[in-house]
Amino acid sequence: MSSLSMRHLLGLRDAKPNDLRVILDTTRSFRSILDRPVKKVPSMRGLTVVNLFFEDSTRTRISFELAEKRLSADLVNFASSGSSLKKGETILDTLRNIEAMKIDLVVVRHSGTGVPAFLAKHSNAIIVNAGDGANEHPTQALLDMYTLEQELGSLRGKTVCIVGDVRHSRVARSNIWGLSALGAKVRVCGPSTLLPKNPAEFQNVVFTTDVRHAVNNADAVIALRLQKERQDDNLLPSLREYRNFFGITEEVLESSKAGVKIMHPGPINRGVELDSTVADGSNSVILEQVSNGVAVRMAILYLLSGGLAHE
Ligand code: NCD
Repeated sequence: MSSLSMRHLLGLRDAKPNDLRVILDTTRSFRSILDRPVKKVPSMRGLTVVNLFFEDSTRTRISFELAEKRLSADLVNFASSGSSLKKGETILDTLRNIEAMKIDLVVVRHSGTGVPAFLAKHSNAIIVNAGDGANEHPTQALLDMYTLEQELGSLRGKTVCIVGDVRHSRVARSNIWGLSALGAKVRVCGPSTLLPKNPAEFQNVVFTTDVRHAVNNADAVIALRLQKERQDDNLLPSLREYRNFFGITEEVLESSKAGVKIMHPGPINRGVELDSTVADGSNSVILEQVSNGVAVRMAILYLLSGGLAHE
């Protein structure tokens, strides 16, 4: 049996600290496998995973695919372009048909909030949320939390500052809940038009529109991508103005604590939310995040499929 208290990974909003601990501790063992010459274990041999990506993705899709391959699972990739969705089939019908082909786990990314939860409710498959609209992206937050622990040790009492387009960011939402559950202090910074519409959803979080105040003494800064595809009109005067006030530039880095860790979930708009010299500089752990992403996804798939191999 899985040692997680949940059957699906839909989000971190109500995550139990113990579940987060189990995932992060299991990630550590998978991370060490990825440094071996042969990066494959038989933990999911005989199990089948379907990757349902209804929205664009490079690193999350490849990361899940590599995680599944490294666990020896069989996998099938679905992309909505070229599928029967174009002929009017509903998502639930698509999933039920795929399920009828005997699959065990489904990884789903969709532009609609709540699609993974809906599929979990109405099908028998185990569901992993790979990003739903502007709601949650739990595996990204878990890989961020893993990277932060690797760099800083225990997160209890550490200050993590999330800067940018928080309103449209599922990464920010999952991180705020996950980091808070592990005892980190979270500061959130962005233009007031891009801060959450309902800040009461987030307890014990400091909100600010002043980036220097936000990064002051922070142990880590997570810069968010400006989500041009999710912008309603007129939330920003211009990208140039955004960079001037909220970009993580060399100058902002200089006013931060020495050794501050710079993170970004990717893809980066270089010169907008993050300057290239900072993204590629010695404080950046952005590529570490990507490497850790595979291990975190291995841990999640392995733990959620825990009972299946022996049923
Ligand atoms: C994020 C996403 O798609 O939510 N990227 C990712 O998963 N690596 C962040 C983003 O698109 O801004």
